[in-house]
Amino acid sequence: MAIPQSFLDQLKMSCDIETIVSSYVSLKRSGRTSKGLCPFHSEKTASFTVYHDSQSFFCYGCQKGGDVITFIREIEHLDYVEALRFLAERVGIPFPEEEQEDPSLRIKPLIYEINRAAAHYFHSCLRGEQGAPGREYLMGQRQLSTKTVTKYGLGYAPPGWDNLRNYLRGKGYSDEQMLQAAVVSRGRDGKSVYDTFRNRVIFPIIDIRKNVIGFGGRVLDDSKPKYLNSPDTPVFKKSRNLFSLNFAKNVSGDKLILAEGYMDVIAMNQAGFENVVATLGTALTPEQARLMATYAKEIIIAYDSDGPGRTATNRAVGLLEEVGLKTRILDMKGAKDPDEFIKKYGVERFKMLIDDARNVTEYQIGVIRAKYDLGAPDQQSAYLQEATAYLSTVPNKIEREIYAGKLAAETGALKEVIRESIDAAFNRRVRAARKKEASDIQSGRLDLYAGKRRANGMAEDGILGCLYLHPDWGGYILGRVSEEMFSTDDTREIYRTMLRLQQEGECTLTELGGALSEGQMNQISGIVARVSEQQLSVTREALEDYIRTLEDYSRKQEIEKVQDLSIDEASKLAQQIRQRKQ
Ligand code: UTP
Ligand code: MN
Repeated sequence: MAIPQSFLDQLKMSCDIETIVSSYVSLKRSGRTSKGLCPFHSEKTASFTVYHDSQSFFCYGCQKGGDVITFIREIEHLDYVEALRFLAERVGIPFPEEEQEDPSLRIKPLIYEINRAAAHYFHSCLRGEQGAPGREYLMGQRQLSTKTVTKYGLGYAPPGWDNLRNYLRGKGYSDEQMLQAAVVSRGRDGKSVYDTFRNRVIFPIIDIRKNVIGFGGRVLDDSKPKYLNSPDTPVFKKSRNLFSLNFAKNVSGDKLILAEGYMDVIAMNQAGFENVVATLGTALTPEQARLMATYAKEIIIAYDSDGPGRTATNRAVGLLEEVGLKTRILDMKGAKDPDEFIKKYGVERFKMLIDDARNVTEYQIGVIRAKYDLGAPDQQSAYLQEATAYLSTVPNKIEREIYAGKLAAETGALKEVIRESIDAAFNRRVRAARKKEASDIQSGRLDLYAGKRRANGMAEDGILGCLYLHPDWGGYILGRVSEEMFSTDDTREIYRTMLRLQQEGECTLTELGGALSEGQMNQISGIVARVSEQQLSVTREALEDYIRTLEDYSRKQEIEKVQDLSIDEASKLAQQIRQRKQ
């Protein structure tokens, strides 16, 4: 039978892979992945990995992988449809019998309606008599203007357990419907229902189609938790939306500013910067990076200047550059975040800060510099050492040169000496890498292009990874890559199926699971896993590389026997290949 897409979507939304897998495997979470002992083969160290972002699993030991449905199929020995039924039952979603109309088709518009009504309610509370504490907080303490409050439709949820619930009831909505929108929550007893947001100022989250998709709510004092955010609902996916993108997308130019918090975004808007967005209470996700890439070429990261902000900045730089975005970083000295900076130093200085936002190298040097007291000679030389060591990892020669000059000017050391020491460290690094590469080629550990299956396999996987993560590149890829260019039947079939499913609608592991064999699912899941681990790049540039590799290979009939090469020849070959890649 044909499974309705809306049912699959709802099922995917409700079956968090970690939650489901946890009832079979004891998982240990670290960051965006969880690891445990693989239930499909016996092992002593955990190589079974669950990826939260892609909602997939992959075992590096036995190479099994898939999504939550694949997992249930394997572990419960069910077929695809049986596994769907099993999961639907477990999370309480009715399984679509052929003739039955799917309720989730109706649920989304209803949730939008409820959210809009709730936003309206919160906003009128803020303006009304009971809104005094909210107004005092937002407009008094935080100095927001009436205009800004209106622009963002900010609101206030009064204290009490059922203000909103009564209001929405009066409009004819049932508890069940309010629960779907998550504007009310269910008590621990499983019966009682109460307002999710109480005595908080409210930040409605609005998507680019102007739908209210969720809310953030902040306490008015220092109590915890500072912010409460709507959980994911059928219309709200935190990992796929950005706060204030509805305004930022209208700004011309190719820059977006990425801030950490709602208040930063709003303060910057009030100061005249509309091209600013923030994540929704979670760390930046690859989906959000890609989303930004559809609106901008360059991202200015304006995260908090504290330790966690720095860590988050480094992470964000990686994710953003991965999707081909340029990044610059605000150096917010003297304030903890943009909101505070603007209040303390004014809009003009903030504007200068944005214009001066630095590239990653400058930023990193700044971070290193801040660790030392440059007045003390021994500290100065320690600073020089750490800074040159860092600069020796910068791949661009001109950039290294520029910073050598800056370091010299700053410390009074001779530029030549600094440059020499950077270059020496750089060359040492390159030599070591080349030597390893050459000996890897020679020993057959690395077959850059002679080993058809491995070099090509990587390119083939890369193309499938690009297609999976950037469905909008499908047309382009199809134009460049024909099925015959893939080296195995399985890979050809995965490629064909992905293109077809994307044409028909969605193509995630869930839809693929209904069409591919077990082995093929393992292969594509492995690809998705390696992308998550940043072992496989899915940038536009990488894609061009992969395509070129396949094209080269289709042209190239003769295979070099690298195993027979001397280390010098291997090194020369590596160099040729490297040059060709550039
Ligand atoms: P911040 O603590 O920096 O908040 O967290 P902020 O937006 O700058 O707010 P103010 O200025 O202190 O009032 C940054 C973001 O992290 C999320 C929110 O999205 C917040 O905007 N966050 C923070 C939460 O989701 N929950 C929390 O408890 C704290
Ligand atoms: Mn902040």
